[in-house]
Amino acid sequence: MGKKSLEIAGPGADGTVAMLHKAYAFEMSTFHYFQYVANNIEGIGVLFEDFFEERAKEELGHAEEVNERLMELGTNPTDDPARWEQENGVGRLQPKRFLSLRSAIEKALEFERVAIGLYNDLANATKDKDHGTYELALKLLKDELEDEQTMEDILARLEIKDVPAAAASA
Ligand SMILES: [Fe+2]
Ligand SMILES: [Fe+2]
Repeated sequence: MGKKSLEIAGPGADGTVAMLHKAYAFEMSTFHYFQYVANNIEGIGVLFEDFFEERAKEELGHAEEVNERLMELGTNPTDDPARWEQENGVGRLQPKRFLSLRSAIEKALEFERVAIGLYNDLANATKDKDHGTYELALKLLKDELEDEQTMEDILARLEIKDVPAAAASA
């Protein structure tokens, strides 16, 4: 535990720690979402396995950075995966329901936007007070903004349309 770290985080430290616990649960949940999608995606999505695997690694890296900050503030994240979905703010992710390329990316875009809100809130809560957490919030916010842009760009150019039933049988 970093005594000075905690002292600097000041009276708002409890709120900051609560947000970091939530961020950890969120990152571990999205890590699992992306890894599961990478392993199980179907159809043309198999061409994107590496892409989803990369995303999984990135979110796991975020979880590690959040973990590190929690430790500096004198606590550890939960060791119980069952609590991830209770604490992540988005509930059960159910990656098995999103194994087509379009659905997997649409769902991912939702998560990236939640992450942006989360780190923006964390930055607002720590600005001018707790620079250690603030710097981390800014770094993660930047990554999630890039992720949102990536997902939006893919979706905008994804040239797969649902084939109308009539055309499919013609
Ligand atoms: Fe993340
Ligand atoms: Fe992300």
